[in-house]
Amino acid sequence: MCGIVAYVGNREAAPLILKGLKRLEYRGYDSAGIALLNGDGLKIYKKKGKVADLEALIADKVLHATIGIGHTRWATHGEPNDVNAHPHYSFGKRLAIIHNGIIENYSTIKQSLIKKGYEFQSQTDTEVLVNFIEDIQKNKNCSTEEAVRLALQEVVGAYAIVVMDAETPGQLVAARKGSPLVIGVGENEFFFASDATPIIEYTKDVVYLNDYEIAVVNDEGLNIKNLENQEKDPFIQTVELELEAIEKGGYDHFMLKEIFEQPRSIADCMRGRLNADEALILLGGLRNHIDKLAKAKRIVFVACGTSWHAGLVGEYLFEELARINVEVEYASEFRYRNPIIKEGDFIIAISQSGETADTLAALELAKSKGAVILGVCNVVGSSISRITDAGVYTHAGPEIGVASTKAFTAQVTVLTLMAIATAKAKGTINEDTFRRLLFEMAAIPQKVEQILQKAEEIKDISKLFTFASNFIFLGRGLNFPVALEGALKLKEISYIHAEGYPAAEMKHGPIALIDEDMPVVFIATKDSSYEKVVSNIQEVKARKGRVIAIVSEGDVDVKKMVDFAIEIPNTHEILMPLLTVVPLQLLSYYIAVMRGRNVDQPRNLAKSVTVE
Ligand code: AGP
Ligand code: GLU
Repeated sequence: MCGIVAYVGNREAAPLILKGLKRLEYRGYDSAGIALLNGDGLKIYKKKGKVADLEALIADKVLHATIGIGHTRWATHGEPNDVNAHPHYSFGKRLAIIHNGIIENYSTIKQSLIKKGYEFQSQTDTEVLVNFIEDIQKNKNCSTEEAVRLALQEVVGAYAIVVMDAETPGQLVAARKGSPLVIGVGENEFFFASDATPIIEYTKDVVYLNDYEIAVVNDEGLNIKNLENQEKDPFIQTVELELEAIEKGGYDHFMLKEIFEQPRSIADCMRGRLNADEALILLGGLRNHIDKLAKAKRIVFVACGTSWHAGLVGEYLFEELARINVEVEYASEFRYRNPIIKEGDFIIAISQSGETADTLAALELAKSKGAVILGVCNVVGSSISRITDAGVYTHAGPEIGVASTKAFTAQVTVLTLMAIATAKAKGTINEDTFRRLLFEMAAIPQKVEQILQKAEEIKDISKLFTFASNFIFLGRGLNFPVALEGALKLKEISYIHAEGYPAAEMKHGPIALIDEDMPVVFIATKDSSYEKVVSNIQEVKARKGRVIAIVSEGDVDVKKMVDFAIEIPNTHEILMPLLTVVPLQLLSYYIAVMRGRNVDQPRNLAKSVTVE
């Protein structure tokens, strides 16, 4: 996880790096630091807490430098404190390093360095790496680049690093394996960052560094080699991202902004892909794959967290519409099994960030076994989008709030389009259903808008549940994954314990928890399991549970039974998750805000989980 920003050029480095770190704070936010190099030498300033704490630390210092590196940390080795924060000096204070990832064999390397007399300030694996580089540099009397290359040949683990050498001012050396690193190429200036957001206001020309590559920038320009010392041609691309897309735009939190962006993000996701009037679905990225998907023997979705929930929705969609056998796997489990992958299987990764380490590793495993691998990613140019054979971007725009909202609805939108297109190619849905689904899909953004207009009503309900200690979320069919997602949202941002279950499963255990203090959220929209859900609600009410129900417009039966009902517009049953999830996002958001939580950066979490 963690955010990396580095700069070399003619601008003042400190303010530029701090601004960049703030943009990347979603990636890690337990401590932050900056290293600057100028005529007075190499200096590091770092602090436990947010980038704002670092800013306060250096506020009264004159920090004139045109080269520097900065980091916002998500601790893996050693608690978040001032000492463990990055950057780290090497023992001889010649080098400074920032690192995202984990050096798995750090302990062995550390022992051998201790024997040579090296002393360590921090508990991090990162400090071991920088000393290892320094040791090689001293012994071989070689350049920093060469020392980094030799060190990384010995390293097991994941990293994106940037190294600054006090003896070569004007030069930065960076490398990556497993953690993202983008290089911004300006005029006589270069940027490094974990994603493009800190770079785009200076240049839109970027190079995505690949695994096992080392980049050196200095007054001669940008030079990229692999760990075998072979030169690589930098592939410069233009990023489309606009600045306003990554700023809060008047909302109290990014999460709220992102919830409210959904009518637009869902529309953006369908733009140019869905044409209801002409009865067309066009998924450019899968142009050559839809017919093959239609013949798939099996689809396996691999994902984590919210993206895994989107995968569960995908399972219902592909089975129902295209009659294809689907499995949904936690990427972290899949990668360590010996999964059976046969010819005709499609492995589809779903990931907002496109950088989740477990999902990436699951895909690599599937690829090594000869599977066709596809991706549904939000971040353009991300690692997953680059290693897959083909894929579809969700085009939800940058999602900064750690709790995923608009990325989920965009993932479900893409999966729905894919399932409908596959079903059409396979002939498992008739023309009428096909056309009806397209018209219903086209109307989704406006229906989400209608739900958002109920924000105040949902806020009022949330007030009454602010002090709950537990919550249960129940739904059936396509709304079962939505119940899981509702529970995850509440847990991660409010820290209230919440469980999601298929509604009918409640009587097999969780019903023991129901009493007057247990809030239960039912997704009880008018669909094929409506009657059954109504019975489940009755079972809860008979035990005095407090029920909030998401119901279809015009519902009478459920409304009579429950404590609170939130009405949402009707749509085709298979599109329901795109609507039912929205009130649950708002409910979690308001409860978390009323509990005084840091909604955008909940404790212990990070936006992009690039470690196992
Ligand atoms: C969502 O609210 C979570 N913070 C988390 O579960 C997330 O969905 C998961 O880490 C997967 O991330 P990805 O979509 O970027 O792969
Ligand atoms: N493993 C390193 C540490 O714990 C880097 C963590 C990160 O990616 O922020 O400091």
